[in-house]
Amino acid sequence: MLNPVFPHRHLLGIEGLTPAEINHLLDRSDYYVALNRAPEKMSDALRGRTIVNLFFENSTRTRTSFELAAKRLGANVINMQVESSSVAKGETLIDTAVTLNAMHPDVLVVRHPDSGAVKLLADKVNCGVVNGGDGSHEHPTQALLDALTIRRRKGKLNGLLVAICGDVLHSRVARSNFLLLLTMGARVRIIAPRTLIPSQVDRMGVEVFTDMHAGLKDVDIVMMLRVQNERMRGSFIPSVREYFHFFGLDRAKLAQAKPDALIMHPGPMNRGTEIDSDVADDFERSVIREQVELGVAVRMAVLEILALNNRDIQARKAAS
Ligand code: NCD
Repeated sequence: MLNPVFPHRHLLGIEGLTPAEINHLLDRSDYYVALNRAPEKMSDALRGRTIVNLFFENSTRTRTSFELAAKRLGANVINMQVESSSVAKGETLIDTAVTLNAMHPDVLVVRHPDSGAVKLLADKVNCGVVNGGDGSHEHPTQALLDALTIRRRKGKLNGLLVAICGDVLHSRVARSNFLLLLTMGARVRIIAPRTLIPSQVDRMGVEVFTDMHAGLKDVDIVMMLRVQNERMRGSFIPSVREYFHFFGLDRAKLAQAKPDALIMHPGPMNRGTEIDSDVADDFERSVIREQVELGVAVRMAVLEILALNNRDIQARKAAS
């Protein structure tokens, strides 16, 4: 039987998920946080299953996190790092997907520099697919681990005021976070220079600020984003010094937020560009390390639910 609360084959984005589905993934993640803190961290929920990490973009922490998650569930894991620049992209993607599919994996975790590429691939395979980040589109497991971190610290998501600051334009993390936070009843502010605010912002249901001091006033959560130089074609910021002066998180700007506001960052951080080490390493306020820890638990929950759904879909096909 498919998971009654989360009856999906893939996790391609936060878009379209219901509050009940999101809560179900977070509840299951909480279970795995406890397991990951126990001395014996192994589960055999996915024994005999195969997870393939297919990364068309460099990644250390996300790939490692998925790999560890799969191993802790007892699955076999294969990592494939593919250079997407060498061959015509569309062809490489589909060819690779079809080849991997022939090896009968249960779940493919895919990261790709083009928005929409993971969905394209999901349509060509008959296993479950997790979007590990596609271009500037979505990065659902990051938004889930951010939500889990907030929910565990604040006890809820509903009603919180969350500021997402910096390079919103290029950030799949920001997009998945808006969708999740708004779905769960939080209020979202974007704080960014005009050049890094997406043009569709009016339709997103978020408040927009171009001044950090004003935007951070009384927020519960300060979520910083990496300045994504690799996605910028042309010049979006005048200089690192000026960017830090206006948009980098330091003590003075943080003082506007609530006294118990949490500081978050998806990593990797550009210290001295979007965040000062002084606040990044203040472990009274900064939950950046916790985000990494909880990421493994979230990925265990997602891999488990999708792999088991996939097993049932395959069994049904074989029976018909
Ligand atoms: C994020 C990503 O790749 O989108 N990082 C991550 O998942 N570890 C954010 C970023 O690269 O800035």
